[in-house]
Amino acid sequence: MKTIIEPFKIKTVEPIRFTTRRERERVLTDAGYNLFNIHAEEVLIDLLTDSGTAALSAQQWAGIMEGDEAYAGSRSFYRFEQTVREITGFRHIIPTHQGRAAEKILFTITGGEGRIVPNNTHFDTTRANVEMSGAEAVDLPISEGTLPSAPGDFKGNMDLEALESLLRQKERRHIPLCMLTVTNNANGGQPVSMENIRRTSELCHAYGIPLFLDACRFAENAYFIKLREPGYSRRRTREIAREMFSYVDGCTMSAKKDGLVNIGGFLAVNEDDLAQKARSILVVTEGFPTYGGLAGHDLEAIAQGLEEVLDEHYLRYRIRSVNYVGEKLNQIGVPIFQPPGGHAIYLDAKAFLPHIPPHEYPGHALACELYLHGGIRSCEIGSVMFGKTDPETGAFQPAKLELVRLAIPRRVYTQSHMDYVVECVGEVFEKRDTLKGMRIVSEPPVLRHFTARFEPL
Ligand SMILES: Cc1ncc(COP(=O)(O)O)c(C=O)c1O
Repeated sequence: MKTIIEPFKIKTVEPIRFTTRRERERVLTDAGYNLFNIHAEEVLIDLLTDSGTAALSAQQWAGIMEGDEAYAGSRSFYRFEQTVREITGFRHIIPTHQGRAAEKILFTITGGEGRIVPNNTHFDTTRANVEMSGAEAVDLPISEGTLPSAPGDFKGNMDLEALESLLRQKERRHIPLCMLTVTNNANGGQPVSMENIRRTSELCHAYGIPLFLDACRFAENAYFIKLREPGYSRRRTREIAREMFSYVDGCTMSAKKDGLVNIGGFLAVNEDDLAQKARSILVVTEGFPTYGGLAGHDLEAIAQGLEEVLDEHYLRYRIRSVNYVGEKLNQIGVPIFQPPGGHAIYLDAKAFLPHIPPHEYPGHALACELYLHGGIRSCEIGSVMFGKTDPETGAFQPAKLELVRLAIPRRVYTQSHMDYVVECVGEVFEKRDTLKGMRIVSEPPVLRHFTARFEPL
């Protein structure tokens, strides 16, 4: 059969609330035009993030009932540890309450003034954690990776020449580690090839520098390798994932993505000394090493989710259903980051709204209109998230890309929800000339997109 179907039946449903445009105008004004400030109940289709928004399976719920809540040495921890170890092969598995907690621990140990951390592209929390340690976060994506309309199977790849030039210029002690984000969330959710992971590893190791994966979407990345990279089509995604991990020295993981859970994460490393330092921080900031900020039942749900995410039927449905949205938007001429990514469609706001300059935040204007028009919540990944305004001179430095991410929660929405999304984006596209830019009214010093307030120009 050609039709790819959801590999599950729906057992529990949650109603979604319909609102009028007038109601949404009031909601958005009260929220300071920041979609993060809106109550989720005022949203019809929530594509803000694929993080922590997955629907759990019956087996995960059963696992939750089985959760062992012992403070130390709980059965659930050992199940979690064994599953993560089987999938990744790492020696030390350190649970954290989510991905950024793993990042915080890693960069507290390895970061610091005068240090540099290269990455294909840092996600916002990774960058913030590197920078909070005093180190510099450097993005080295391949050039076509930053061109939304360029074709390419692995546009998430690291620019190896740029990396080598950086490694040659700097002393080993200035680069504590290098990272690869799979898939590359801040760059269109594009995958990284196995060849690129292997060559990045060879290069880093030749200079004595450890390589880490930001592994939030490791299963989606592995499935893209299976679909697109010569030599992998007959391999099981689980084996492909294991090979990806075999080239690196550790990983940070937000289980809220490919762990198919609502909360959780981990730091996994091979080096004993690093693990010991990490556990010392963990005890102070997250909790005892056998629960690390999570309940025993969370650890059960992650262990089960990590098994389910590697199911070939699930991954085929997952990648195809995201691609379906991309195909439909392509058909009606809406500019998107090509090709569609693993967990999201990224609208190219620069091409969508060429009349709105970056300092008037075209991505944010588009995200607000998608909410006003159809009750869809999306997320700007552009100059609000990554642009900077010098507080003294007022000089504005735009982000490289102005994107609006339609992140698709795992196992939550059906094809007709997605048809509605396509129709809404299409209607906004038809009246795109009427959209206006935005102005920031107030903003915090870090991660401003979460809490800044805006007003339309
Ligand atoms: C690539 C990437 N790294 C790290 C994180 C941080 O994970 P968490 O939200 O669990 O802290 C995210 C979250 O969206 C992400 O997409």
